[in-house]
Amino acid sequence: MARTKTTFICKECGSVFARWTGQCSQCKQWNSLTEENNDSMPHATQRKSGIRKSSAVFHELNGESQIPTRITSGIGEFDRVCGGGLVNGSVLLVGGDPGIGKSTLLLQILSCFSNKGKRCIYISGEESIDQIRLRAKRLKLQDSAITLSSVNDMEVIISSLSHFSKESPVIVIDSIQTLYFNTIDAAPGTVSQMRNCAHSLVRLAKKQNMTILIIGHVTKEGTLAGPRLVEHMVDAVLYFEGERSNQFRILRTVKNRFGPTDEIGIFDMTGVGLQAVDNPAELFIESQDGSVPGSVVFAAIEGTRPMLIEIQALVAPSSMAMPRRAVIGWDSHRLAMILAVLERWLPKQRFVNCDVYLNIAGGLKISEPAADLAVAAALLSARSGRICPENTVFFGEIGLAGQVRPSPNGAMRLKEAQKLGFHNAIIAEQQKAEKSKDKLHTHKIKSVHALLSCLESAPS
Ligand code: TYD
Ligand code: MG
Repeated sequence: MARTKTTFICKECGSVFARWTGQCSQCKQWNSLTEENNDSMPHATQRKSGIRKSSAVFHELNGESQIPTRITSGIGEFDRVCGGGLVNGSVLLVGGDPGIGKSTLLLQILSCFSNKGKRCIYISGEESIDQIRLRAKRLKLQDSAITLSSVNDMEVIISSLSHFSKESPVIVIDSIQTLYFNTIDAAPGTVSQMRNCAHSLVRLAKKQNMTILIIGHVTKEGTLAGPRLVEHMVDAVLYFEGERSNQFRILRTVKNRFGPTDEIGIFDMTGVGLQAVDNPAELFIESQDGSVPGSVVFAAIEGTRPMLIEIQALVAPSSMAMPRRAVIGWDSHRLAMILAVLERWLPKQRFVNCDVYLNIAGGLKISEPAADLAVAAALLSARSGRICPENTVFFGEIGLAGQVRPSPNGAMRLKEAQKLGFHNAIIAEQQKAEKSKDKLHTHKIKSVHALLSCLESAPS
């Protein structure tokens, strides 16, 4: 009798191993490997039954191709994040923490599509029909023409959806972690179930020209496999971010085969669902007068949109042997680097015996290196207790030798700052910014020394 082959699959990144180890050597997650039986996977059985081989058809690169048709929901923030609306027949993954508002958002989007005459189907493996109806009532969308179903069995889902193939429907699957194939000997939410369910949904969408929006929970506890496992199969991946305690939610494009990535859409969670924030210009600035030490305004670019974001730092004497470094919304390694640069090149600025806290206002997460200069300014201001120059924005990258480097899209950042009434900008010396005839005064600096002098010359 043939031995049953077992493999160990990482729930986070999907890497396959022959042996169990405590840590995944690919993604470095601890305790994420689960045992899976190879024979339970459908593709294994397919291989055994033998599929007739046919040869591939090759084409020239230069040829006629169809421009994909897009459907817009009318919710500006969502359409922009998708690259100008959903592409017909594409598959989108919407990931996020439980309770962040994924089901709410997708029900609202579905309702918009149904108002435009699209056939809309909501399949929930998590909630009963009554629960979905209650949510729709709360959102005042109960009259929308949305077809509901509460099923988990993938075979039932595939066969029932085939009836709608002529109408090219928009389908929401809530969530991928609750679906299962009866033929696979594993619980819902395991790696093999998730992979096969996602694979079947992608095939269904392409074959029958259906647009499918798949919800996937991001799991911290690791009891379920994470949505990262299926990212490579789908056409676009959106992550819904934000703190549950914060009213703003951010929808971010991580992957998009039909549009740009790193685009963000901002939503406000209200009593009647998520409202798109079309003009978030000043949303992430808490104290606009800049009257607190450690508070600095960073002129950011999120995707294609300029935004002003407040960066707050706190530097306090520490009583611990290992002072604390806590960061919310930015990379902690990058903070360590900026602190090291400041200590090395500005010898009087010591952070060794201090706890350092850094916070990006409004629950936003930023990853641009252009934030370096604003972070450095916030740290220096927090340490000295001096208020940063008023009405000033900062942007620029800091190198290890303490030099300030230019950042992309300088003119766009300056234009936004000026639009919002800022008078000064502290930027890199080599920053190419069009000479503007306007009131914004740019102060160009070369290194962190110059930054310190700028901050010291500000009236306190
Ligand atoms: P939900 O969409 O169920 O989250 P997910 O599908 O990501 O798990 O939203 C859950 C939270 O949203 C819940 O805590 C209540 C809140 N909420 C509102 O604040 N306003 C609303 O109109 C709705 C429907 C939900
Ligand atoms: Mg939900």
